[in-house]
Amino acid sequence: MPQSGRKHQTLSLQILNQMVNRFGSPTYVYRGEVIRGAVTTIQAFVKKKKLNLHVHYAMKANSNLTLLGVLKDLGVGVDLVSIGEWKRADLVGFDYHHRIFSGLEKKKSDLEPLMALPGAGVRAFHIESVEEFECLAQLAREHRKVLAVAFRFNPDVDAKTHPKISTGRVDDKFGLSAEVILGLVEKTKSPMYSGINIEGMSVHIGSQIFSLAPYRNTFKKLNHLKFAVEHRLERRLTYLDLGGGMGVDPLGEKVFNWSGYFDLVGESFSSDTELVIEPGRSLVAEAGFLIAQVVAIKKDIGFKSPIVVIDAAMNDLMRPALYDAVHPITVVGRSGRKEKMNVVGGVCESSCHFGSHLLPSSLKPGDFVVIGHAGAYGASMASQYNTRPRPCEIWWDQNKNGEPLFKVVRRRETFQDLIEPELMP
Ligand code: LLP
Repeated sequence: MPQSGRKHQTLSLQILNQMVNRFGSPTYVYRGEVIRGAVTTIQAFVKKKKLNLHVHYAMKANSNLTLLGVLKDLGVGVDLVSIGEWKRADLVGFDYHHRIFSGLEKKKSDLEPLMALPGAGVRAFHIESVEEFECLAQLAREHRKVLAVAFRFNPDVDAKTHPKISTGRVDDKFGLSAEVILGLVEKTKSPMYSGINIEGMSVHIGSQIFSLAPYRNTFKKLNHLKFAVEHRLERRLTYLDLGGGMGVDPLGEKVFNWSGYFDLVGESFSSDTELVIEPGRSLVAEAGFLIAQVVAIKKDIGFKSPIVVIDAAMNDLMRPALYDAVHPITVVGRSGRKEKMNVVGGVCESSCHFGSHLLPSSLKPGDFVVIGHAGAYGASMASQYNTRPRPCEIWWDQNKNGEPLFKVVRRRETFQDLIEPELMP
């Protein structure tokens, strides 16, 4: 978060050698110190601006259990979007009240087991459709429970980000319009819906947002709707969830204005309403690297630039292929003249491409490359395409004497892991 300019100089050739010898390549590495720094910086802002605001980490960004445990110990809650993520939060021991259940597709069969738990195992379900509202009402009736819910509001605000990560425009698949929400609020007055307790409202307009203008616009609309809902309910809502989306620029050219963001939050909402934010990327992106090794350097006649084939591919880090995302790539252990090179992975797709980068002309097969800003939406979106086992994940911290400490927090998958669920008739 607050772009620190922390680069990966500290990943020395010696450390990389040790790491790749011990753990193999490609490998994800997460720096504990950087994650703790991101969280404590946000918490310091919240304190300084005297906000009644809690951070719920959007765990889809990186749901590694060790990472979640570190965040839990820092007092952060989670925003989760599937029963699988709920189970991860459970393994780590997040308090039920610190789990917000978002997500577009909650199935009755998934939610059923939660009904036996106090508070249904969550702080609230964030409702995304009329069908989900009806499903929760039915579950509440069947299990004689009162379920805490919030409505996800689609404010029809363009966050001016990549269309594939924009979520708050009227045609985006997320959330409900003010009209539909007010209709559902009205419905809860009937005894049929007495098991639905509307606690709050939520918004999330997209990811990689750098301007405060779309947030300002969203907060205004959210406040408007909040008053309309409270008027109909004849009582106050408990909380408003303002979503995530705070941008992190891998090239360090743009910086998200956290201080301005929190000023805006403070100005937009009355101090007696509890607020929640759901940052994902901004807590973990900078802390993660994907380490890989050069396998081949192709320099055929007619190539504008050499093609560097590395042993990490789109199945390990999908973001460049999916969103044309740029991740900084550096070579460790070589200096001197640099030239443009196209860095690619070995998956049999032309989109398995990490972009064009200035790399040392002396680059050789076997050299280490470090792909930066890979802590968010890297490992959590990895797949096994081309029957490639997913990389291992390493936690990098330091001991009391300041010496580096590496711990495997997810072992490398094996061929056996991939093949086990398959059955041959
Ligand atoms: N809250 C909700 C309801 C969300 O859907 C998301 C992200 C967040 C919070 C966290 O957003 P963040 O602070 O991380 O921007 N795979 C894409 C990003 C997709 C984000 C999906 N929702 C990428 O790699 O850029």
